[in-house]
Amino acid sequence: MQHDMNSTALTAFRHTFASGLLEAFSETCEHCHGAGLDGDTGREIPPLVSDPFMRNWNGKNLKELFETLSRSMPADNRGSLSARTYTDLIAYLLRANEAPAGTSALPDSLAELEAISIEKP
Ligand code: HEC
Repeated sequence: MQHDMNSTALTAFRHTFASGLLEAFSETCEHCHGAGLDGDTGREIPPLVSDPFMRNWNGKNLKELFETLSRSMPADNRGSLSARTYTDLIAYLLRANEAPAGTSALPDSLAELEAISIEKP
């Protein structure tokens, strides 16, 4: 498997999209964030697409997103998922935010995730 360590998550990084990504999201996240990832203002649940998500994460790296997610989500059962599942969910969020599709999976080591930054396309 090859990773371009200088690439950015939203411009050049390659990752695969197994159908499992959608399952993990619909099982553990969708009842709050919504199938369209557009959140729920009435319940103060933020959207996970475009703004404010991209504004909050632009310029940060995937390790920071991983750590935030694995510490705080799913909000009704924090930290309950495996590292691989959190990484798959990150891939799902990136795709939802229009990262181009590629051929290799997102790495799940923190060092590799740290080398990939999130940039607004
Ligand atoms: C019980 C409802 C609930 C569930 C389930 C839930 N979330 Fe959240 N999520 C929230 C709330 C509320 C916030 C905002 C407050 C916070 O960050 O704790 C949030 C914030 C976030 C953020 C930060 C958004 C930003 O703009 O920085 C991300 C990313 C996220 N959730 C992803 C997920 C993922 C992925 C899952 C599934 C594993 C998930 N959430 C499950 C309620 C939920």
